[in-house]
Amino acid sequence: MSFKQEARKFYPKWPIYNEKEINALTEVIKSGEWWCGAPDAHQGKNVWAFQEEFAQLQGSEYCVAVCNGTVAIEAALMALDVGLGDEVIVSDYTFVASASAVIATNAVPIFCDINPNTLVMDVNKVEELITKRTKAIIPVHLGGNPVNMEHLMEVALNHDLKVVEDCAHAHGSDFKGRKVGNWGDAGTFSFQASKVITSGEGGAIICNNGELADNIYSYIDCGRKKNEYFYKHFSYGTNYRMTEYQAAILRTQIQKFSEQHKLRNQNAEYLMSELNKIDGIKTMEPTLGTTSLGWYVFPIVFDPAKFGGLTKSKFYDKLNDNGIPTDDCYPPLHSLDCFKCNNLKKGIDYSRANWGGEKSNDAHFPIVSDVYSRSIEFPQEMLLASRGKLDIVIEFIKSLKNTTLSQD
Ligand SMILES: Cc1ncc(COP(=O)(O)O)c(C=O)c1O
Repeated sequence: MSFKQEARKFYPKWPIYNEKEINALTEVIKSGEWWCGAPDAHQGKNVWAFQEEFAQLQGSEYCVAVCNGTVAIEAALMALDVGLGDEVIVSDYTFVASASAVIATNAVPIFCDINPNTLVMDVNKVEELITKRTKAIIPVHLGGNPVNMEHLMEVALNHDLKVVEDCAHAHGSDFKGRKVGNWGDAGTFSFQASKVITSGEGGAIICNNGELADNIYSYIDCGRKKNEYFYKHFSYGTNYRMTEYQAAILRTQIQKFSEQHKLRNQNAEYLMSELNKIDGIKTMEPTLGTTSLGWYVFPIVFDPAKFGGLTKSKFYDKLNDNGIPTDDCYPPLHSLDCFKCNNLKKGIDYSRANWGGEKSNDAHFPIVSDVYSRSIEFPQEMLLASRGKLDIVIEFIKSLKNTTLSQD
């Protein structure tokens, strides 16, 4: 994180924990049951219970818990038979994991530019990226903002494509009355340290198809099957299991989620209404059809011309230096060093990808490149602050309008 720790001390610290987390963890240690066991011989009570509780929170039928959100995407893709020779369309504006999980399956990610207002995948641009090799699409609900899933599912159905929703930022987000993660074939979540429900590291896959859930489970637990002998391995699988420690903490975090979610949403609404009154500031716009946005990070796009020509790094330095925790947004995937080359994995042909070498030029991804050059974001704990603290942010940003280049 590039924001200075010093700036964080004036705002709520994340993670928020109390005796409940401490007791839950102590109980696991004392129980001596530190892992979840096998599907027909559960040990510990937390992983299996957490799967049911998280499925309920997200309105899905099935949930498989895993050790992080990156392997959650990989497991969903693997269970959907994505692999060698396949292409997977991914938003260009996301954390590297949305694409590195595709690389892990031996498929090739293809990057899709974004909508300049909602900052998520521009569904209108998906169709032009589809080739005969396309097998799946990964919409990323960035900052909690849902991709237009109704439109995306139409495109996916027309072309017989699988859809894995990357919901790492979108716990509790709801589009047209249906929680994200339930529109596509599967939805994946992260519980990494900065996420709104966290155990430091952790992940989950939700879905509404029993056979798919079984296949995902089998992949993350060494190819095992429910109710079968422990040393029978039916298919290729690996070990991405969640520990009892992670699940115990997550179960207490789930209990706190709805109150925090409500506060984050109220504060995000307030910031949106006040910051958008400032000439030269535009906050992320909820996608039309969003019923509830589960705010995570809060991105802002600014117009340097309206702020005395401030560069974005100067912009967030000034905020941080004045006690307001602010960070850079994700550099677009096409611009990352790993996607400028095309030899990521031995034996895989990346030559048809829309990135690598000259193809990674910003000119080929005009919207995201422009947005990234002018955007900063507040961490989610800002959205748990008091109104007074938010007013400090708003007033400080207004004061930056008086910046002159000499001060820059
Ligand atoms: C959009 C997105 N997808 C996937 C991940 C991967 O999650 P994890 O860090 O739990 O592996 C992250 C993590 O920050 C993310 O932001």
